[in-house]
Amino acid sequence: MKKCSPICYLKIATLLAVSLVTACIHTFQDPNEYHAVPSKDMELVTKVPLAKLKEGHAIYKVQCSKCHEPKFPGAVPSDQWHIIIPGMAWNAGLSKDDEKKLNTYIIAACRFIEKEDEH
Ligand code: HEC
Repeated sequence: MKKCSPICYLKIATLLAVSLVTACIHTFQDPNEYHAVPSKDMELVTKVPLAKLKEGHAIYKVQCSKCHEPKFPGAVPSDQWHIIIPGMAWNAGLSKDDEKKLNTYIIAACRFIEKEDEH
């Protein structure tokens, strides 16, 4: 085998580092979390305006991981969330207005994830 020059070692090291990082990102990207980020697709499927989805998502991100790991919208079936949200909104000390925004986002994201899973 031909001897590897320093530049060649550097190339190999870079390649290894890049593939390691790529593998990590892939492993740690929870599919529920990925789908839960408001998008144009989510707006199209759920018919909830993107601005509203983003508003609810912002509340969710700040308020819903204070006491436990965030429970992703896909972690609870869409017809069950309405039972959980009032208690958790109370836990987080949300105003009625913020609770409504959060509710709109979580139910929409959850339905979106359920629709994606159907195909
Ligand atoms: C003041 C602390 C606190 C805050 C803030 C909070 N939770 Fe919780 N949550 C809990 C506790 C305690 C439990 C029950 C133990 C567990 O499952 O971790 C729980 C459980 C849950 C569960 C599981 C319930 C079940 O019946 O399986 C979900 C889903 C959930 N929380 C969602 C949320 C969402 C969404 C928010 C944002 C509004 C939120 N939580 C904010 C304390 C909190």
